[in-house]
Order: sequence, then C-alpha cells, then structure tokens
Amino acid sequence: MALIEQFGEMLGRALENVSSSHTPADLDAVNVKYLGRRGELAELMKKLPSLPAEERPDAGMRANDVKRQIQAALENRALSFGGDKPKAKSALDVTWPGAKIPRGHLHPITQFMRKVEDIFVSMGFEVVDGPEVDTEKNNFDLLNIPKDHPSRDIMDTFYLTNGAVLRTHTSPVQLRAMETRKPPVRLVYPGRTFRHEATDASHETTFYQYECLVIDQGITVANLLDALNSFFKTLFGPQVKIRVVSSYFPFVEPGLEVSMSCLICEGKGCSVCKKTGWLEMLGSGMVHPRVLTNMGIDPEKYSGYAFGGGLDRLVMLYYGIDDIRLLYGGDLRFLEQF
Ligand code: DAH
Repeated sequence: MALIEQFGEMLGRALENVSSSHTPADLDAVNVKYLGRRGELAELMKKLPSLPAEERPDAGMRANDVKRQIQAALENRALSFGGDKPKAKSALDVTWPGAKIPRGHLHPITQFMRKVEDIFVSMGFEVVDGPEVDTEKNNFDLLNIPKDHPSRDIMDTFYLTNGAVLRTHTSPVQLRAMETRKPPVRLVYPGRTFRHEATDASHETTFYQYECLVIDQGITVANLLDALNSFFKTLFGPQVKIRVVSSYFPFVEPGLEVSMSCLICEGKGCSVCKKTGWLEMLGSGMVHPRVLTNMGIDPEKYSGYAFGGGLDRLVMLYYGIDDIRLLYGGDLRFLEQF
C-alpha cells in the first residue's frame, strides 16, 4: 500500500476506535496509539523522507489532515461524555447549561447622573433637559457674556459652520427652560458639554456638568448655601463641610466659588486636595438681574440662585478615579467595575 493510502487506512481505524471508546481512559489509549510520540502516525511520518520529492508535499499534507481529524474526533467524543456523567448517546446534551449572553449596563456617568437627579428631586427640583448644540445667544449673549468678553476665550468653544456652538456649559439651559416656565422654579439639568482643549488626566473635550436654577420671590444666598449643603451631605456623607469664597461669573452677582472639605484627608491636607484640605466643586451665585430680564422676569420682584459644576469630577471623587479619560475610553475592564 502506498504511504498516502496507509494514512487513510490508519484514519479509518482510529475513528472507529474513537467511536467505540466509552470512557476518558479509552480515549487516552486511542490518543497514545495513534498520536503518541511512538504512535502509528509518528511511525508513518518517519517514512516521508523515503518518498520521491514530488510526492512528499501531498503526503505531508495528508499526514497533517489525518492528525487534525483524529484530534477533532477525540475532542468531540470527550465532550459527549459530559464530564463524570455516564456516556451520552449523542453530542447534544439538552441538560447542558446554555451559552451566557453578556449583558451590558448603564455607563457609570449615566448611573451617577441619575443619582444626582434623585437627590435634587427629593429636594423638590424638576429635572429638565436642553440641546447639546445651542446658539451663541443662549450659550453666551443672554447669559450676560458680551461678544468681546474674555470669558468667551476661556471657554474654548467649538463653533459649527452654521454659527451654532457645542454648548460649553449647561448654563444655556437656564434660558431654554425659562422660555416656557414662570417662577417659582426649581430646576436641575445635568448634561454633556464640550470645550476645545487639550486632554489630560483631568480634562476632556467632552465632559458632563450638572446645574441648578431656583427663582422665586425672596430667594437669598442663604437658600443657595442650604441647597448646596444638603446636596453634598446627601451625596458624600454628613461629615462634609462646604466653603464659599467670592468669585466672578458674568451671569451671577455676587458670584461664589464653592469648595467641599477633602474626602480623603478630611481637611488635613493631602495630594488630592493639593494640601489645602478643600476641593473646588462648582461655581454659583445669585442670578444677575440682566439674566433675569433676558428670561422675561422682573428682577425687582423675583430673585434666584444658580450653581453648576463638573459631574465627572463628582464621579471621580466618589469612586476614587484618578484619570477622566478612563470614563470616556470605552475599556470594558474599567466599565465592568460599575
Ligand atoms: N457655567 C460655569 C462654568 O461652566 C459654572 C457656573 C458658575 C454655573 C456659576 C452657574 C453659576 O450656574 O451660577 O464654568
């Protein structure tokens, strides 16, 4: 028998031996007999060099093919034994657990956004939304940021060819929401914002803010501080303190910058708070009379407060994440931890 036929003959016997195997030990024996180091296949392959050169490639391929077929048959047969159970009649075992279909979940930022919304809803706020592409008028003009004001440069705006902008902050929602509402209002509007800036561990071109607007008769800074206190204590725990220093934003007067006592060192000073004991959290203030007027509200009758800050920063502090880019990288090893 020519060598190439001997491979075929051996394959036939090997497959028969596999199908008449009833235990893993039988299969081991078949494996050794045919595929072992001194097995039949190895013996036949020793003869390959004696073939005429032009027959060798075909015979070599046949040898590999035979090896693969025997291996596959052994594996299938082993599977059909189904572990320690008595041998199954076929490879189809209807009691075998089904393939698990992986399930996704909400992104940590979305989860957190809902947590923030829940806290404000429990404080009597209404959740509202606004578009990510907005007009310069809403993003700047009506918020009392004049055309030549340097804060327009600070914002590093993405302009679209039609003159619209990717909103640089959630503040334009103030104007949007008040187009269809009358005071008293208590609004919260988290959402996605954009700035054209270099990315690093704490900056992304796409990020999230959350912002609140409250307008009613007799609203004062005391109401603002009370809301901020409740929010941060509910989110991070009763030990948290807030600190307010004066600051400047064109759409509020006075403007206030709000910090929270450092969660890591509890105010003693560490690397997270840059040894200050305080973490800068958001900007806020009493809504500027001109902005109220732009909303069609009489500033003599009503007053209001607003505050807005980075949602990503909250998420990062809450979970101890040290690089904002992890939140936008789409790496499942990161995302599956939430
Ligand atoms: N829009 C500001 C920013 O993105 C943050 C801000 C400051 C929001 C003061 C406010 C506010 O509502 O009153 O930097």
